[in-house]
Amino acid sequence: MKITSKELREKWLNFYKERGHEDIGAVSLIGDGTTGVMFNVAGMQPLMPYLLGEKHPKGTRLCNVQGCIRTIDIESVGDPSHCTFFEMMGNWSLGDYFKKEKTAWTFELLTKEFKLDKNKICSTVFEGNESAPKDDETANYLLELGIKKENIFFEPKEDNWWELDGTVGTPCGPDNEWFYPLTDEKCCDSCDINCKCGRYVEIGNDVYMQYEKLENGYRPLKNKNVDTGFGFERMLMFLNGVKDVYVTDLFDKVIKFMENTLNVKYLEDENTTKSMRIIADHMRTTVMLIGDINGIVPSNVGAGYILRRIMRRAIRHARKIDLNLNALCDIAKIFIEEVYNQAYPLLLGKEEYIISEIQKEIEKFNKALEQGLKEFDKVINGIERHKEFAQKTGEIVKNEINGKSAFRLYDTFGFPLELTIEIAEEKGYSVDSEGFNEAFKIHQEKSKAVQKGEFKSGLENSGEMTTKYHTATHLLNAALKLVIGETSHQMGSNITEERLRFDFACDHKLTPEEINKVEEIVNNWIKQDLTVSCEEMSKEKAVESGAEHQFIERYPDVVSVYTIENASKEICTGPHVKKTGELGEFKITKEEASSSGVRRIKAILK
Ligand code: ALA
Repeated sequence: MKITSKELREKWLNFYKERGHEDIGAVSLIGDGTTGVMFNVAGMQPLMPYLLGEKHPKGTRLCNVQGCIRTIDIESVGDPSHCTFFEMMGNWSLGDYFKKEKTAWTFELLTKEFKLDKNKICSTVFEGNESAPKDDETANYLLELGIKKENIFFEPKEDNWWELDGTVGTPCGPDNEWFYPLTDEKCCDSCDINCKCGRYVEIGNDVYMQYEKLENGYRPLKNKNVDTGFGFERMLMFLNGVKDVYVTDLFDKVIKFMENTLNVKYLEDENTTKSMRIIADHMRTTVMLIGDINGIVPSNVGAGYILRRIMRRAIRHARKIDLNLNALCDIAKIFIEEVYNQAYPLLLGKEEYIISEIQKEIEKFNKALEQGLKEFDKVINGIERHKEFAQKTGEIVKNEINGKSAFRLYDTFGFPLELTIEIAEEKGYSVDSEGFNEAFKIHQEKSKAVQKGEFKSGLENSGEMTTKYHTATHLLNAALKLVIGETSHQMGSNITEERLRFDFACDHKLTPEEINKVEEIVNNWIKQDLTVSCEEMSKEKAVESGAEHQFIERYPDVVSVYTIENASKEICTGPHVKKTGELGEFKITKEEASSSGVRRIKAILK
C-alpha cells in the first residue's frame, strides 16, 4: 500500500488543522429528523444550521471525516467501487475564507501532499444560469495556480451545482469539481473528463455555498461558505493506484478471511466475487448502523427496514456462496476489532451487542428464507405450468412474477423486493415492481387505519393548530416535571383546533405561582425557537434513552422519539412543528381536578 487509510485520515485532518481548522469529529449516521433524510448522506448535513448562518461553537473553520449512508445505488453494490456506507473527508468555511484560499488549498493538498501532477489535474466550474453567474472567479484562480486552460471545463447546473435533495431552505451553490486520470492512455482522441471510458475519476469537490434554496429559485445567504467533500474510499483507492475498494486496507482483511474460509480466490469467479463484495459492504454498514451512537436495529419500518434489507441481502449472498452464516459475525468482528478500532472506538464497546443483533437477524431470516425459497419455487412452477397451458391457447405469458406474489414473499417470508428481484433474475424472471408497490400501498393504508385506532394519542386530526397544540403538550409535560417534580407524568391528553387539555398526576391544586412558572418555562422554550427532531428507534432503546412514554406495552417494536433540544424527549407518533418558535404565546386557561390524584390543565396558544 502506498498510503494506508489511517495515514489518509491523518493527512486530511492535519492539513486543515494546520490551516486553522477545528476537527469537529463525526456525528451519528442516523438522521436527526430535521432534514427529513433518514441517514446522514453528506458531511455538510449536520452543519446545515451553521451554513445557513447560525454560529458554530467551534468557530468558522471546521474539518472532519464523516460517515455517510447512501442506499440509492444499493443494486450497484457488488461492483468494484459502490458502497452503502462511506466516509467523506470534509472541511468548511462558515463565512470565513472563500474561493481564493479554497482553490489554493485543494491544489496544494493534491499536488504537494498527494503528489498529483498539476498538468494532469482537471477541474470543472459552473457555467452560470438565471440563478447564479458563471464562475469565472474560480476558473481564474485555477489558472493562476497553474492548472492548464484546456483542463478547466465550464459545466451546467446538472454537473456543477450542489444541493442536498433539493429541499427548500437548504444551503447550496455552484461547485468546483476535481478530476484526475487513472492512466495516461487515452481511449480515443477526444478522451477527456466527459468521456464515458472512466479514465478520469472525480476525486472531490468544493461547493461554494452562498445561496439558500427557495420554493422558486434561490436567495443569497448572509455568509459565503465553503463546503468541501472528498470521498475517503475513492481517494484511498485512487492514491493507491487501484480501482477496487475491496483491495484497500478497509476491506482486505475481510476479503482474505472469506478467501480462507471458502477456499476460493477473490476475483477468480465473477459471481463469487460479487457476493463477497456484497457481504463485505453490507456487513460493514450493518456494524456501523447498529454500533452507531444512535444505533438502530433491523425492523420493518423506516431506517430499521433499510438495515434489515441490507442484512438480509448479506445473509442471502452468504448462503449463495456457501459461507457459513457464523462467518458473518466473524466478519463483523474484523471490522470492529481490526479495521475501525481506531477511527470508531465506540464499536468496540458495543461489540457484543452488535454481534447478538446480527445473530438474531440471521436466525429470524434463515427460517423465513428456507420457507420463502420453497414458496419462490412454487411461484415459478406456477408460471411454467401457465406457460405450458398457454402454448395450447396461444396466450402469451411473460416470465414475470406478479406484484401480489412478490408482496406475499415480502409480507409472509420477509423478502425485501430487491431480494425477490435478484433471485428472480438469477432464474431468468422479472418482477412486477409496480404491482408490488400497489399491493404494498393497499396494505399500508389498511395497517395505518388499524394503528390510528390503537394510538389515537388525543389527536383527532392533524391540522396546523392541532400540530402546534401537540408540540405545546410536550413542552407543558416537561415544564410540569420541572415545577412539580418527576412524579408529574401524563395521564391523558385531548387536543382540538382551539385548545389542549392535559391530565397529569399531581397531589395538589396548582398554586398561581406554579401556574405562572409553568407558563413562563413553556414560553421561554418557545422564544428560544428550539428545534423539534424525530428519530426512530427500538422501544427498548427509547425507554433507555429516558424518553417519556405511557403504556409502553401498547407501542410497536420501533417507535418515533420526538426531541425538543434539551427541553423534552417523548415517544410519540407526531406530527409536530419543526421549531417551537412557530407556537406563539402559551397560556393556561384552566386548572382543575380531573380525578383523585390527577389534575387537568386547559391551555391555548395565542
Ligand atoms: N456537500 C458536497 C458533497 O457531498 C461536498 O459532495
